[in-house]
Amino acid sequence: MTRSLHAGNCLLFIISPALLIYHRNKNISKVSKLSIMPGLTIGDTVPNLDLQTTQGKIKLHQFCADGWTILFSHPGDFTPVCTTELGKMAQYSGEFYQRGVKLLGLSCDDVQSHNEWIKDIEAHTPGAKVNYPIISDPKREIIKQLNMVDPDEKDSTGNLPSRALHIVGPDMKIKLSFLYPATTGRNMDEVLRVIESLQKASKFKVATPANWKPGDPVVISPSVTNEQAKEMFPQGFDTAELPSKKKYLRITKV
Ligand code: BEZ
Repeated sequence: MTRSLHAGNCLLFIISPALLIYHRNKNISKVSKLSIMPGLTIGDTVPNLDLQTTQGKIKLHQFCADGWTILFSHPGDFTPVCTTELGKMAQYSGEFYQRGVKLLGLSCDDVQSHNEWIKDIEAHTPGAKVNYPIISDPKREIIKQLNMVDPDEKDSTGNLPSRALHIVGPDMKIKLSFLYPATTGRNMDEVLRVIESLQKASKFKVATPANWKPGDPVVISPSVTNEQAKEMFPQGFDTAELPSKKKYLRITKV
């Protein structure tokens, strides 16, 4: 499908997934091509997909309603890094559930293969029970809709999923995304840390500074005035003295 827009002396032809810009005054041979990979990103609502999983059929919006969801993809079943990651996710699942967070994995193989693979995952990570659903996507259509395609990793069927991880909020919108290549396994402590940060920021008008860990002080959002901050944070706050004399770095505990 092609759409054209007029922008000054340019005509923009939007031909998904590439964007062609044709300058009216110039020769057609000077058409420039920008490679654009559109896709789901933070702030977007996740599509309401019908999913086949190891725990039956799921409608994505129904699954994500009333809580937080970690939606994470893996390049493929029976691969080494993925086997360790799914085991670690299972080990950490109690920590996530305690915080009202559901887990939903994805690998591009089918449910039968996932079920065989789960035996390896649980054997490799003692004590880990894969109690969360894993989406099957043998046709690799879901990964396109969730922006989880690795452009560099291919097999005979086509592109594999990347190691993508979306954190979806109770409003069904993506709050945070990680995008790792197949060769880099994720750190579940970091996943837990960012969940704590997102939940703090959604509950109080605060943000978490560099290298923040749960329990550390937080900073007050710039949108909060000092008058409001006095009411919102009765425990008090410290304001950093900075060369600019601007009083924007206010630290508190919540
Ligand atoms: C892995 O999970 O180990 C893996 C998968 C695809 C490419 C490289 C590593």
